[in-house]
Amino acid sequence: MEIVVVENYDEMSDVACSVVEETVKRNPACVLGLATGSTPLGLYERMVRGYREGKVSYKNVKAVNLDEYIGLPSSHPQSYAFFMREHLFSQIDILPENTHIENGMATDEKAECARYNALLDSMPRDLQVLGIGSNGHIAFNEPFTPFGSETHTVALAESTVKDNSRLFERIEDVPRRAFTMGLKNIMDARRILILASGANKANAVYGLVKGEVTTALPASILQKHGNVVLVCDRAAAQKLGDGV
Ligand code: GLP
Repeated sequence: MEIVVVENYDEMSDVACSVVEETVKRNPACVLGLATGSTPLGLYERMVRGYREGKVSYKNVKAVNLDEYIGLPSSHPQSYAFFMREHLFSQIDILPENTHIENGMATDEKAECARYNALLDSMPRDLQVLGIGSNGHIAFNEPFTPFGSETHTVALAESTVKDNSRLFERIEDVPRRAFTMGLKNIMDARRILILASGANKANAVYGLVKGEVTTALPASILQKHGNVVLVCDRAAAQKLGDGV
């Protein structure tokens, strides 16, 4: 795993943006796996800036997102579909039909998982962007999700509901279930860019880099992937020691 430790969130976002922009410049028709959460917001801001400055076009890029809350329509401001449109897709020249996410309102959940798995198989990702949960989850793959998992539905851990409640008016409003890409789907990406910022991610980052590879900390599976770059700030890296 390549590890880049930077001073702060802004620097993390700068480095992340150059990794994404290089991928798109190398292959203007690449497939990007994208993530939600607060962590990639700075990256998306910079991608929008790069597009406005004419540095990069996303006209032929395809995007697939990791996960979506069950029970929220894509018009709901807290849905991940809405988040992606608001923070990125509506501000760059990607075609709406080239953006993909699970349908949080699908009535047949099994069929929706199968549809998404087939889509992922047909669109191998050149680069998968990831954040990390404070308990080491990636996408919504909570602790003890099997490493071989594909797109599935999940009951969110209490810690995840709590972490994500800051974006909702009341904790009761946070959906308790979600669709998520599985760990196998994530590992299928050719390259993985994982971002972490802040002291509340320090334990998860330690487990990701130095911990045992265990389903108790889902991100630790990334140690088995040959092409991962972790970009994190000093606060998130504080438990890694001086050797990194
Ligand atoms: C959510 C998302 C993850 C994200 C994590 C961390 O649970 N499903 O994809 O990585 O939160 O979020 P944040 O970046 O806001 O800390």
